[in-house]
Amino acid sequence: MKIIPLNAPLGVSIENLSLHGPLNKEQALELCEIINKYQLVLFRKQELTASQQIAFSKALGPVRKRKLPADYFSPASSLETPGIVYVSNIRDRNGIPTGIIPDGEMWFHHDTCYTSEPDRFTMLYAMKVPRKGGNTLWANMYTAWKTLPDALKEQIIGKQALNVYDYATKSRPESKNLSLIEHAWHPAVIKHPFTGKKALFINRLMTCKLEGLSERKSLKVLEPIFDHAEQTCHIYEHHWKPGDFIIWDNLSTTHARTHFNNYDERRLRRSKVSGQTLNT
Ligand SMILES: [Fe+2]
Repeated sequence: MKIIPLNAPLGVSIENLSLHGPLNKEQALELCEIINKYQLVLFRKQELTASQQIAFSKALGPVRKRKLPADYFSPASSLETPGIVYVSNIRDRNGIPTGIIPDGEMWFHHDTCYTSEPDRFTMLYAMKVPRKGGNTLWANMYTAWKTLPDALKEQIIGKQALNVYDYATKSRPESKNLSLIEHAWHPAVIKHPFTGKKALFINRLMTCKLEGLSERKSLKVLEPIFDHAEQTCHIYEHHWKPGDFIIWDNLSTTHARTHFNNYDERRLRRSKVSGQTLNT
């Protein structure tokens, strides 16, 4: 595979691989190693059906098929191919959303860190992109941890953090009504299960509390760490083009989305590879 580093603190592009045939074992192993090393891989000019995307995903590990909350919009179009979900602001002729996830800007997060086994890989295939905005940003949680001032490191090392996701909100998470929303405790700093490197495993959208501290005191500790982790020196920002396919390591990166106008259509097809229990 021809690997070209992106001009960024993480990520490479691979140019000579078409994804519509499933990967063989050797290619899958090689690609997993590349993702472990570079955290994100971009493939441009791909033409992929939903079932081809699932076949590609399966070659890399067990495909995550999660049941979404019953009252959460999960249209039939997302259910045709198990494991596929559309991330979109497009409504059908009856005004019903054809995709999941709120429209517009989205804060930095690790996918499904509010479950006991957060996803290992997430991948997105761009089908329709807005003229302006709707970019995805990835932050490198290895370098964010490595460069964190010692005084901040000391406040979270060895501690568990509570991650929640309320599908109805796009802002600061709260731990009230835990019985109604998905939540999970994970180490605030993990030892990555595949690379052995330490990575920050907290994020602004979903982490609300640290072990042994009130929510208010937790935020006082967490917010300077989020500010540190979201500096541009840790970030790759991707301006989508139709046909772009990106796969990333969800355990060593966080991702966010920039604002876009709601009348501009955006549609990406998402699939995931399952993760495992995380340790310090
Ligand atoms: Fe996400």
